[in-house]
Order: sequence, then structure tokens, then C-alpha cells
Amino acid sequence: MDPMICVTDIHKEFEGVTVLDGVSVRVLPGQFCALIGRSGHGKSVLLRHLAGMLRPDRGQVLVDGQDLATLSMYDLRRLRRRFGFVFQGGALFDSMTIFDNVAFPLRECLGLAEDEVRVRVMRALEQVSLNGSEAKMPAQVSGGMGKRAALARALVLEPQILFFDEPTTGLDPITAQAILDLISRCHRALGFTGVIVSHQIPRVFEIVQQVVVLQHGRIRFDGTPEQLRASNDEVVRGLLGADDVPPAGEAGGGATGKESAA
Ligand SMILES: Nc1ncnc2c1ncn2[C@@H]1O[C@H](COP(=O)(O)OP(=O)(O)OP(=O)(O)O)[C@@H](O)[C@H]1O
Ligand SMILES: [Mg+2]
Repeated sequence: MDPMICVTDIHKEFEGVTVLDGVSVRVLPGQFCALIGRSGHGKSVLLRHLAGMLRPDRGQVLVDGQDLATLSMYDLRRLRRRFGFVFQGGALFDSMTIFDNVAFPLRECLGLAEDEVRVRVMRALEQVSLNGSEAKMPAQVSGGMGKRAALARALVLEPQILFFDEPTTGLDPITAQAILDLISRCHRALGFTGVIVSHQIPRVFEIVQQVVVLQHGRIRFDGTPEQLRASNDEVVRGLLGADDVPPAGEAGGGATGKESAA
């Protein structure tokens, strides 16, 4: 099966500092992939490359067989309509109601008639159990409701590919679990290809089929949650909280099984 997302050897520097140092990843259609790693190791930057929001200095990003670097702005925009993105922090528009937040991509990208907008927005709000809250302003809802509204805004265009950057940050553990369960239900019901950056370890492993560990801008591990749990790599075990290991950067090799030679 051809991958939906295929990244080959991408490199990215910011102001002379290497952030992505030769990353290659593939995600098959309909699969959900968790991207994990310590803070500052390049997860959000990688996610933005997958979504066509950043361009690599070198290397290739193919989405559904299309090379993002060679697409015209017009074609890139068309392709990106098939993507949904839930940003780190959730980021609703403060000055708009929940309804208008969710309606925004429909009005902006599709120019639908208002009665069609209403049908689609209410359906998306129902998927995240927010029907009844559509008239509220973001400041009037809880953090968890805000995250659910951000999820509804990403779902409303019925994307084939969904990117989540820490969709549960700042929530209490029970609400965070509820959001992960909700994302998982949506994945099963809608069948999108997904990539989720998350620090919800080990919970996030229950909703994905693939886990990628990023360390210092390189792939340290790429495999199934089962392979991850069985890994003896000290960086992987450190992320799982399984061992007392030195901080990232000081850990040596010792990779076994599916770990890549980073
Ligand atoms: N637009 C940018 N300009 C300059 N440096 C950037 C930019 N975006 C990211 N960086 C740098 O790239 C590195 C990786 O950042 P990134 O946001 O990908 O980390 P992360 O793994 O998502 O961390 P966290 O778990 O804290 O969100 C950081 O050192 C960050 O400062
Ligand atoms: Mg990040």
C-alpha cells in the first residue's frame, strides 16, 4: 500500500541551528501515528512540514503521492483543504462564538450557503458533544470544551488527514483522557490518516498503530506500540518512564529491534 504521508531525509535549520537532521517517516492511509519526544526536539516543526506549513531545506515531503515542494500555491492550498490541524494550545478565535469558530473554515474555504454551514457545524459539534454550546464565546467555556471546539473546527471540512499538536495540554488527566478517547472515536468513525504529537504517555499508545520517537531532530524509533513497549533503547525507555536514564542528549546507543541507527 502506498503511504499517505512519505517524508524522505528532510533537514531544517533555524538561524544556523539544526532542528530536523535527516528525518524519514511513512504513514499508511487510515493509520494513526503518535509523534513523541522531549520538549524542543522538533516535533511541532516536523508536524508543520507534514502539513505543508514549513518547507524543508532539503529532502522531500510527499502527501498522497504529491510532492509539496513542487506544487503551485494554488495546488498546495487545494491539497491543504484535505488536511485538518489542531494546534498546540487549541487557539480558537476569541472574538467569535464557538459556532463561528467551527464555521470559519467552511465559510473561508468552501463558501457554502449559510443553511449548509449550519448543518455541517452542528454535525461537527455533535461529534464532540458540544451541541448546546454553539452560542458561547471561547472565554465562557472550559479548557476541555475549547479543545473539543478546536477538534470540531478541524473535523468540519471532513479532512482525509488530521494533524494534532498536543491536543490535551493543560487539561486535567480525566479530561485529557476523554479528549484522546474522542479523537480515537473520530478516527475510527471517519477513517482519516492522523499524526498526533502528545506527551500523554502511555495513554496515547492506546489510540495509535504507529509510534515515532524524535530525538534531536532524528528518528530514534519507528514501530508499533507493542514494539515500543518491548524496546530496550534507553531513550525510548526513558520516555516511557520505565528506567532511570540520563537526560536526552547524554544517552548513548544501545538500540535494538526496530530502532533506527540515529
Ligand atoms: N519558526 C522558528 N524559528 C526559529 N526557531 C524555531 C522555530 N520553530 C521552532 N524553532 C526551534 O526549533 C526547535 C524545535 O521546536 P519544536 O517546536 O519543534 O519543539 P517540540 O518538540 O514541539 O517541543 P514541545 O514538546 O515543547 O512542543 C526549538 O529549539 C525551537 O526553538
Ligand atoms: Mg511542540
